[in-house]
Amino acid sequence: MQQLSDRVAVITGAASGIGLGLAKRLAQEGMRLVLADIEPARLAQALAEVQALGAQAIGVATDVGVEAQVNALADAAFARFGAVHLLCNNAGVSSPALTSAGWQSPLGDWQWILQVNLMGVLYGLRAFLPRMAEGGDEGHIVNTASVAGLLTAAHPYHVSKHAVVCITEGLYKDFKRSGARLSASVLCPGLIRTEILDAERNRPAEFGPPTDLSQASASVQAANAVFAKALDAGYEPAEVADAVVEGVRGDRFYIIPAQPALQELVTLRMQDIAQRRNPSLPPTGLQLAAQAPPSPAG
Ligand SMILES: NC(=O)c1ccc[n+]([C@@H]2O[C@H](COP(=O)([O-])OP(=O)(O)OC[C@H]3O[C@@H](n4cnc5c(N)ncnc54)[C@H](O)[C@@H]3O)[C@@H](O)[C@H]2O)c1
Repeated sequence: MQQLSDRVAVITGAASGIGLGLAKRLAQEGMRLVLADIEPARLAQALAEVQALGAQAIGVATDVGVEAQVNALADAAFARFGAVHLLCNNAGVSSPALTSAGWQSPLGDWQWILQVNLMGVLYGLRAFLPRMAEGGDEGHIVNTASVAGLLTAAHPYHVSKHAVVCITEGLYKDFKRSGARLSASVLCPGLIRTEILDAERNRPAEFGPPTDLSQASASVQAANAVFAKALDAGYEPAEVADAVVEGVRGDRFYIIPAQPALQELVTLRMQDIAQRRNPSLPPTGLQLAAQAPPSPAG
């Protein structure tokens, strides 16, 4: 979809991080915006920011893990602008690992993460796609997965993001086979400087208490600290937004703004599969951080 200006974009998780970066970039492209987020105060702030950039925009407080709220978001978008051309199913959460074996994480972690990251995307597709198709205009869906959706770990975050990659790839094939005027991309960012590590600020009580990291072993705490540092040194949300705009305009399915070392891990996994090799065991982040820096003398 080449033309963005004067068209309508919906972004979930728009009040922070990648979603906010996207909202600002799409405002600069001249799009009309529907911003959705579970945090009303920060959503109002985000709305003011894109309006200051000249965008016509509305904000709709939405928990993407609740189907009725996503349907209400679609109603509000079509009522205000009459059409939707770009749907960014971006809201997502994670919880820090308490143990290195994510399958042992509390079931509440699994349920919450799958509800937001997977069901949130599915609710978005079901609420918007039929009406986007009915409009007859061009349209594009961008579902935010992660490089975690291309790599593996027995953690609910990885599992949820694999599901997002899978559903989006299926959707892309359906669109192309049916000759629809819609297309789809999966966004798989690497390490991006956002507030994802504080995602439990939005964890509903029904999914159990937030993770008490003081219960974790010293090595797990150290691994979490290494990860936090790596995220802080990561790419900016604005760089991800640039990649998304380029990907939508170029109809690129895989949008992977990820650090080269992460891309190499994806390649290694793909080679394992193609060669029917057992999964490689690249060093963990903690092992990498523990490696002594090379001496200046070489
Ligand atoms: N930061 C990274 O390194 C990284 C890497 C790969 C993928 N991602 C993905 O990018 C997406 C955006 O995350 P981010 O890193 O910008 O984090 P963030 O926490 O900065 O932003 C996420 C936004 O989603 C909102 N949100 C959370 N739960 C919600 C819900 N149930 N309904 C609606 N909104 C909700 C939050 O309030 C927040 O504004 C997520 O899907 C995340 O998994 C992030």
